[in-house]
Amino acid sequence: MRQKIAAANWKMNLTYQQAEKLLEELIATPHELKENHLAIFAVPFPYLQLANSKLGGKKNVFVAAQNCYSKKSGAYTGEVSVEMLTSMNIQYVILGHSERREYFNESNQLLADKINICLENNIRPIFCCGEPLNIREANTQNDFVGKQLQESLYHLSAEQLQQIVIAYEPIWAIGTGKTASSEQAQEMHAFIRQQLAAKYGNDVAENISILYGGSVKGSNAAELFSQKDVDGGLVGGASLNAGEFVTIINSLK
Ligand code: 13P
Repeated sequence: MRQKIAAANWKMNLTYQQAEKLLEELIATPHELKENHLAIFAVPFPYLQLANSKLGGKKNVFVAAQNCYSKKSGAYTGEVSVEMLTSMNIQYVILGHSERREYFNESNQLLADKINICLENNIRPIFCCGEPLNIREANTQNDFVGKQLQESLYHLSAEQLQQIVIAYEPIWAIGTGKTASSEQAQEMHAFIRQQLAAKYGNDVAENISILYGGSVKGSNAAELFSQKDVDGGLVGGASLNAGEFVTIINSLK
């Protein structure tokens, strides 16, 4: 059965004390994770240990990193290796977020390298894709997202691909309050799944979780998650509020 996932991306927000308070509020807010439901918290690097100590060991709850480097180790000042993450029991990492592609020039090729080193070390990438506004306005979003998938993922074997979670995040919907309609989300998710099916076969494609990201909130999560190919959300702003995020967790189908 496909996993349904509510993933929080805190991005570069919160002080240590605020992070601690939010984690405590999250623990104290009742939420329901069914057998195939996961909650993943992608926190800033300095808070990984804190998040692990508060959430680690809870059923179907995982702490994630927001990035990692493509090299194993060495003289790369300021970077964080996959081995560092796995040695802290981190099992997921967000890769290819549009903010990293835009502000840190991350290319599809670099992301392919990052995905490889993650998979070699048994850490599961949450691979982000999605188009900017001008591409959506030109109605060429399928070609754009198709190329992101092709250049970063299609070198993987079917077995490797099944370790990946995909997050479709249209850039025009991130942090703008302008959510894609559930029809727009479903249309792109179905396209992504079709592409994966064409390359890897139906059984593989049916097992991949495809999350939607871009202004997901407590008030729109249930409608988005009711779509056949929308397997949950990758949530920025609303994940910084315990009540909102728990509503999103409880909206998983
Ligand atoms: P918002 O939920 O703040 O729009 O951010 C989405 C996102 O970028 C999650 O990775």
